[in-house]
Amino acid sequence: MITPLEYVSAIKPYVPGKPVAELERELGIKGSVKLASNENPLGPSRKALEALKKFMDTEYDLHRYPEGGGYYLKNALSGKFAERGAKVGHDEIILGNGSNELLDIAVRTFMGPGDEAVMARPSFIVYSMAVQSVGGSSIEVPLTDFRHDLAKMADAVTKKTKLVFIANPNNPTGAGNKGDEFRQFMSRVPDGVLVVLDEAYYEYVKDPEYPDTIQYFMDGRDVLVLRTFSKAYGLAGLRVGYGIAKKEILSEMNKVRAPFNTNTLAQLAALSALNDQEHLRRSVEVNEQGKQFLYKQLDSLSIRYVPTEANFIYLLLDIDARAVNEALLRMGVIIRPMGPKEIRVTIGLPEENKRFIEALKTVVRNA
Ligand SMILES: Cc1ncc(COP(=O)(O)O)c(C=O)c1O
Repeated sequence: MITPLEYVSAIKPYVPGKPVAELERELGIKGSVKLASNENPLGPSRKALEALKKFMDTEYDLHRYPEGGGYYLKNALSGKFAERGAKVGHDEIILGNGSNELLDIAVRTFMGPGDEAVMARPSFIVYSMAVQSVGGSSIEVPLTDFRHDLAKMADAVTKKTKLVFIANPNNPTGAGNKGDEFRQFMSRVPDGVLVVLDEAYYEYVKDPEYPDTIQYFMDGRDVLVLRTFSKAYGLAGLRVGYGIAKKEILSEMNKVRAPFNTNTLAQLAALSALNDQEHLRRSVEVNEQGKQFLYKQLDSLSIRYVPTEANFIYLLLDIDARAVNEALLRMGVIIRPMGPKEIRVTIGLPEENKRFIEALKTVVRNA
């Protein structure tokens, strides 16, 4: 067989959350709930679904390549930023097959063998995988109080550093960094290091001190702000994310990006979802209500957790997380074991949250 690159061979594959159908097939059960991948439990916006149906019924141009530049979606995004006083041109927006693809493109554009990227541990696992895929090294800085230790991350920047990844709020802990900490961090990061601000859960954030990272883009800093339609917009299955950065950065990334990386249906659905602010509002509200319900239940069970800014909660258990996961799976509840005694659960619909709590109660009682 052909010999793979040594550093590619060493990558530990990403393990996605178990699909409901797979679990039910394996265990011969029905009616299970998936709270493992931080998806929107309300599903996609009706407007997005209607736009897709209309397209399939009347236009069905699927034999044509997609709009490569994503003109209409970029226009709409640009308009949304303008409403908030930020001027973002088409050449300052990049669309991706999920925001995941964009962080991968950033790595392939700016890093090579021997280069370093600074990131937190634990954080979104894909950062280190992307860095390893180009032969780079990940410098992992442990979290402090479950969020990025930005002072230590600034200390970790060296001449070899090309990228810094910041997930705010962080996955898997859900905790976020504040504007002040971030300002101090940015004052220490030298020019020539790209700060990738992964804001996949941006729409859910409630903290009034959350940093306004678009401001750093407007100030001409080397930042790439990443957001997605996969979470609060409920379009994870279609794969659309976007990045905001100055045009000199994006013109390089566009050389690495595949020409038609976001497909026709994805662009259309994202455009319609962006115009359905009512669905977004409801999604955030359902998340907030679910969060408060889960906090209350966990408090009454004396189970510790990290207060979240996102659509998932990180639980700190006293028992083995893998055993808890197995037991929950047998009861048809899919969550994510994260550490030796830590699990992450996505906030679901009221009945899904209740189902999780009842199952967790049983597991804790039997432990
Ligand atoms: C922190 C973070 N960044 C990025 C992503 C990727 O999202 P997508 O590629 O669906 O936009 C996720 C998905 O779970 C995430 O948790």
